[in-house]
Amino acid sequence: MSENGGLERIESPVTARGYFLCGFAAFGGILFGYDSGYINGVLGMDYFKREFGHPTTLDNSGYNIKTWEKSLITSILSAGTFCGALAGGSVADWIGRRLSIMIACAIFSAGVVLQVASTTVEMLVCGRVLAGFGVGLVSAIVIMYMSEIAPKAIRGAIVSGYQWAITIGLLLASCVNQGTHEYDNSGSYRIPIAIQWLWAIILGVGLFFLPESPRWFVKKGRHEEARYALSRIRGQPSDSDYIKDELAEIQANYEFEANISKATWFDCFKGLGRSGNFRRVLIGVFLQMFQQWTGINFIFYYGTTFFQTSGISNAFLISLITNLVNVLTTPLSFWMIERFGRRSILIGGAALMLVCEFIIAAVGTALPGSSTASTILIVFVCIYIFGFATTWGPAAWVVIGEIFPLPIRAKGVALSTASNWLWNFVIGYITPYMVDPGEGNLQAKVFFVWGSTCTLSLLFAYFFVPETKGLSLEQVDQMMAESTARTSAKWKPHETYGQRMRRETGAAAAQVTDKHDATGEKGSL
Ligand code: BGC
Repeated sequence: MSENGGLERIESPVTARGYFLCGFAAFGGILFGYDSGYINGVLGMDYFKREFGHPTTLDNSGYNIKTWEKSLITSILSAGTFCGALAGGSVADWIGRRLSIMIACAIFSAGVVLQVASTTVEMLVCGRVLAGFGVGLVSAIVIMYMSEIAPKAIRGAIVSGYQWAITIGLLLASCVNQGTHEYDNSGSYRIPIAIQWLWAIILGVGLFFLPESPRWFVKKGRHEEARYALSRIRGQPSDSDYIKDELAEIQANYEFEANISKATWFDCFKGLGRSGNFRRVLIGVFLQMFQQWTGINFIFYYGTTFFQTSGISNAFLISLITNLVNVLTTPLSFWMIERFGRRSILIGGAALMLVCEFIIAAVGTALPGSSTASTILIVFVCIYIFGFATTWGPAAWVVIGEIFPLPIRAKGVALSTASNWLWNFVIGYITPYMVDPGEGNLQAKVFFVWGSTCTLSLLFAYFFVPETKGLSLEQVDQMMAESTARTSAKWKPHETYGQRMRRETGAAAAQVTDKHDATGEKGSL
């Protein structure tokens, strides 16, 4: 670090172009949202049922897709995304964050080709598993790429942009389905599937012009390339003191971490103490699990049918409204996450959501089928979505991008993202068994389940999630080693890694000198 490099010099100032570069990768969220959203509508299209289904008298279209086929077509995506997210942990370290995302876009596109071309369930399933693998890779790697290149003061806001893109993807999927579902030709399902190419092309080609993460170059020991990449991202000349200082701090932190831990998968499961890797992996994995257990996807995956069975006549419109609330309120989080911090909004958001869930459950159970219950359902579902969109939606992604030290960051983010997809699948799979009339038939009581699980999410955030706002990734690393979740918000940076390394090497050298003095070795020179 240059002479004047101190705590205030661990990050360079950023130009407007730098902000744009950092925000672009958020586009990956569109792939995530659209891909999870389009299949619901497609499965309900008459032409699709005729093409892929079997003759029946049970469906108005005269054809239906068997339950096991529906469940396979829907859930196979999660198998692909889960494996893709995990693979991201190795691939992103091996060939770099940026190249991995570009390759993921190519894999995703191949999956889309298979789906567009398919006229059988088998081929469709193969296409979805492949596309899912690409989405899984993208979902894990985009988070680490964005977290690694974003300036610390707005890192939360930038990564929240990814969540916003997810919500836009979900909304776009429901709009496109709405537009094509009545076509009496294969365009009805082929158009919604094929449109995804566009997202993959924009992301893949766009990344071609973006720099690699300087932190990955540091990890690979390619320091000159790291300097050049950092200077492009920050919009500063590569020989400026700012770039020198920021790079020196990233290098010092990496050397410090690499001295205490290696970077294998096995190392992710070591150390439960404050600075331990396993502690951080558990926080990431459980945070993503509890994001799913807030119950959000009950609304996005099963909302329409639930509103119908609750006696709401315009259920499609209400579903569209829930999607709109999601898209329109997410940007508020850009400000909230930097103003109040990650930990606070996770706690506050869970509190708001669980109150809404218990109100819906209590009124719906006390006055089933009444217009009061329907109004309460609609109003509180919208407030609940606002609660998710401004807190757990973005913050769960932001935090997993921040809590891992560089040596295991790719793997930690991958494990956490895989947990999101795993629980997404588990909840999607078991929900029909809780609510279908022939099964659990819980009706509004299902919200007692979501209210209870959301209470666990609140407790988890309170006891385990640290405050990471306003710190560089290297300072987050230090904060986690020196504080607990509950004391983290008060922690203040007090030393750079460069200073610490110098202090420790200085102390070690002094010790050696003392020892030598004591044994008279020095004198013998
Ligand atoms: C969640 C998804 C959810 C979406 C809704 C994401 O953060 O991981 O499961 O469908 O938010 O906006």
